[in-house]
Amino acid sequence: MKYFRQISIGAILAVAGSQNMPAADGIDISHLGTNNTLVRVTDGNSRYVLFPVEESVDDATLNLLLDGKQEKTLRIRLARNRVDYYVPFDISAYKDSKIIFDVVTTQGRASVREASDDACWKNIRLSDTFDTSNTEKYRPAFHHTPLYGWMNDPNGMFYKDGVWHLYYQYNPYGSKWQNMSWGHSTSTDLVNWEHHPVAIEPNSLGQVFSGSCVVDSDNTAGFGKDAVIALYTSAGINQMQSLAYSTDNGETFTIYPGNPIITLESEARDPNMFWNDETKEWNLLLAHALDHEMLIFTSPDLKEWTLQSAFGKGLGAQGGVWECPDMRHLPVEGTDESKWVLICNLNPGGPFGGSAAQYFTGDFDGRKFTADTDSEGNVPTKWMDYGKDHYATVSWSGAPDGRNVVIGWMSNWQYAAEVPTHQYRSANTLPRDISLFKGTDGQYYLKTVPSPELLALRDHRTVSAKGKSFGKSPVKFALPEANDGICEINMSLNARKADKVTITLANRQGEKVDMTFDPSASTFSFDRTQSGLTDFSHDFPAVVTAPTLRNSTSQSLRIFVDRSSIEVFDGEGNFVLTNLVFPGSPYTTLSLAADGGKASLNSLEIYTIKTSNK
Ligand code: FRU
Repeated sequence: MKYFRQISIGAILAVAGSQNMPAADGIDISHLGTNNTLVRVTDGNSRYVLFPVEESVDDATLNLLLDGKQEKTLRIRLARNRVDYYVPFDISAYKDSKIIFDVVTTQGRASVREASDDACWKNIRLSDTFDTSNTEKYRPAFHHTPLYGWMNDPNGMFYKDGVWHLYYQYNPYGSKWQNMSWGHSTSTDLVNWEHHPVAIEPNSLGQVFSGSCVVDSDNTAGFGKDAVIALYTSAGINQMQSLAYSTDNGETFTIYPGNPIITLESEARDPNMFWNDETKEWNLLLAHALDHEMLIFTSPDLKEWTLQSAFGKGLGAQGGVWECPDMRHLPVEGTDESKWVLICNLNPGGPFGGSAAQYFTGDFDGRKFTADTDSEGNVPTKWMDYGKDHYATVSWSGAPDGRNVVIGWMSNWQYAAEVPTHQYRSANTLPRDISLFKGTDGQYYLKTVPSPELLALRDHRTVSAKGKSFGKSPVKFALPEANDGICEINMSLNARKADKVTITLANRQGEKVDMTFDPSASTFSFDRTQSGLTDFSHDFPAVVTAPTLRNSTSQSLRIFVDRSSIEVFDGEGNFVLTNLVFPGSPYTTLSLAADGGKASLNSLEIYTIKTSNK
């Protein structure tokens, strides 16, 4: 067991009928009943208690008692039959206290003896170290992932003093959803991330769900000039909105004693606030999840919020729940116009099943959002990304140079907890810069391009081709094999007389991804049904299709391949498809074939990627 090289393992005796059992050194275990066990830490000098996890069992509830007083509650899938992995609980702050975990399990047991046989009691131990080096073949090399444990929504992102702060829905005690806290990472280039301690933990009002942060540069809230203010959902039995503030640039937060600051009679979550420069007040959007609307509030001081209006009833995609709102005022490229965009994540109800991010373009007067309509007077449904793995997308507050930068959770609630990784679950998408363009139908659409920081990742150009014509029999290129084939593919093609062009990434095992450009239908599709491991969920194998939003036989693309994801960006930003893939081995060839006539590859470059995550 590599995590515990440094510690000695105490004698493990399962004495029949005994209720007090010697466990690892420094830990004393007393079974009180079939579902209740006390774990006493008798050596408080170690840094961590390492809890053994078995993913398929139910959560046990662990009440941490310090000198007999309840400090916090954790939920951990304590191992019953086998240990899948360990999770650390840091006890270094409690050195001077008597530490007891009062553990309540939920699985049925016939006797205390049976309960005492659980694998967790034999394997729980103390350690001064916890090894977070990568043990997963599918861990992305240039996408943000937590060091270990479960992650969903990116949230609370803000930019300050050259640093991009990214918080995320985090479970530090297992690779499935639970114990929602705000994990924290920072970056100076949006690509290489440094990991920090958990910033906000569950407290007496409940778990800490998604929310947002702003830098209060005018001290409107009274916590100090440039304090970082976080609003998040406290999820107890019901959901309410809470405030926390940080005076150390988002490293640690103080929970506001006046919480909760917004309460409603029905489920509402994921507060997203921003300074409205036109009305000179704060705005807040709150997802009225089951009512399929976004509530819009105003505030002078971030603490007192007034409900002004609700947007969305009956508009856009209505399946599932509405979650994680965001709103930005965006320029329309090539014009001096600007429009407001309201982002509305929903789950399920996405165009290809499960979760997805829709958006509305329109006008906003600081109180009310009015969506644009099409020529028939209807509000059209528009999607930010046409892949299956793009959710909870929100933007950075205070991005420099007027930029609008977003990032999404690169998974789907349909199977996020089943994907074939263990040490961690889920990555975030690559960062994207968004603006608007006017489509041929007169509608405004999001233009989404990979953030310019990604250009700096290009390392060696392994392929450079120009002016090749191809037909039914494919033209082939080698993909880089270094570092598990991570690469960027940049190409421009013209379907000319062909009905369709298919771009295929394949490995030697015959696993492949087919992407098909159909100029007459103005669509681009992505087929991952034969991409590798797909049978962990029947919702995973899928063919997804994006509208190209242009009438043209030309198509340029930037495709980013990481170990378990492919992001396809239209060269001009008209569409994006983000999809997870789990190939048995990396894809090694890129081929292009055309149906019904000859097509041409105008240019192709393939680059290896520089990354600090190996
Ligand atoms: C979206 C979401 C949010 C909520 C969070 C909980 O994925 O359901 O609405 O705040 O996840 O982790």
